[in-house]
Amino acid sequence: MTFKKLSPKQKEIFRWCYRDNYDALICDGAVRSGKTICMITSFILWAMRKFNGAVFGICGKTVRSAERNIISPLMNIADITAYFAVNYTRSVNLLTVEGCGRKNSFYIFGGKDESSYMLIQGITLSGVLFDEVALMPRSFVEQAITRTLSVENAKLWFNCNPDSQFHWFYNEWIKRAEERRALRLHFLMSDNPILTEKQLESAERQFTGVFHDRYIKGLWVSAEGVIYRDFADNTEKFLLDIPPDDIVYCAVGFDFGGNGSAHAGICTGFSKRLRKVVILDEYYRKEVISPAQLENDIIQFVRRCQQKYAVYDGYFDSAETTLIRGVRTACARDRLHFEVHNARKSAIIDRIRFTNLIMSQGRFFIMKNCKHAIEAFRSAVWDSKHLDDRRFDDGNYNIDSLDAFEYSFEPMMNDIIES
Ligand SMILES: Nc1ncnc2c1ncn2[C@@H]1O[C@H](COP(=O)(O)OP(=O)(O)OP(=O)(O)O)[C@@H](O)[C@H]1O
Ligand SMILES: [Mg+2]
Repeated sequence: MTFKKLSPKQKEIFRWCYRDNYDALICDGAVRSGKTICMITSFILWAMRKFNGAVFGICGKTVRSAERNIISPLMNIADITAYFAVNYTRSVNLLTVEGCGRKNSFYIFGGKDESSYMLIQGITLSGVLFDEVALMPRSFVEQAITRTLSVENAKLWFNCNPDSQFHWFYNEWIKRAEERRALRLHFLMSDNPILTEKQLESAERQFTGVFHDRYIKGLWVSAEGVIYRDFADNTEKFLLDIPPDDIVYCAVGFDFGGNGSAHAGICTGFSKRLRKVVILDEYYRKEVISPAQLENDIIQFVRRCQQKYAVYDGYFDSAETTLIRGVRTACARDRLHFEVHNARKSAIIDRIRFTNLIMSQGRFFIMKNCKHAIEAFRSAVWDSKHLDDRRFDDGNYNIDSLDAFEYSFEPMMNDIIES
């Protein structure tokens, strides 16, 4: 790709590093606003102009996400490849850029990768770019910054989408930008000059509630109030009397109860080309029961689902290893054609954002008889008193059905988004 035009804020990304008054750049704000693409281009051009034989860091949430979001696009940016030979050696996570009589090395690190944390400790860096810094552990970011302190004219480059206003990066860097000699640029989607009016509108529709505030308006706000606003206000439009006839795959998600919470199971169906996600059947039991009774209930629930749908996979609360083992043994004993997997339990905010997305795209439905799940979606609220994003849970809310539903779709999440 080539940059045909740049918005005023994007131009700043290319200029700030040649001014002596700044040691760092922070670009935070809306999704798709053109932060990463300009930052990586400017970073490489600055490094090549100012240094030779130096080492730099490029950090993503994980090494793999950095390869996908930064390295691959970089290889296609004509403003770089026209002047420099760019080579990436995946086995050592090393990018080399050579040309105009200079050669520099860029190591790729993943903030969440254990191995990156070890590797970055001994190294000296002349500059570090953090893509999606709000998704990295603070200790990793601080370690990487420490590695630049001995290099004169080293610069730091941060970009991210907003999180809650209690987030460490917001408080330590954005609020203190001036005293840290950092230039802060706040981005909106309108700062990306290639997005059309239609694309802006359609992107806006993908996010509601706190996601709209953070990813469209670019605000650092904590999640509060009703989680699934549209579902709570217009429940009827999500309900079905009969299941769609093009369900091609189903999975069960199961959350084990205890300490006042319920045992909840959800059977989710996915239609052709993963177009629709439908809650087809549910299990819900709040009273205290023995593990044997629970296994028995689960077998019966799976049998009931299998009579109607092709269900061969179940994803169970992975914290409860003994209960999972019991269920696995029971399924084998009863010769059930059903594989018991550990649930992934990815970050709660990702699961909720996904559900919100398929709801706003008109791809999410619930069978009318799944009363507990319907009530759970209608009543779910955020717990704004916590520093991280959480659902409010005082024992009266049914978050168990929501967890169970999320376990059932987690392995399919990326495929469903892409479809
Ligand atoms: N000036 C420009 N010229 C051409 N393409 C651009 C320009 N600015 C942005 N783009 C394109 O717009 C898309 C979004 O840009 P980018 O990925 O940098 O956004 P982002 O702000 O990092 O988004 P996110 O917050 O979702 O990571 C990319 O495909 C990018 O190549
Ligand atoms: Mg980005």
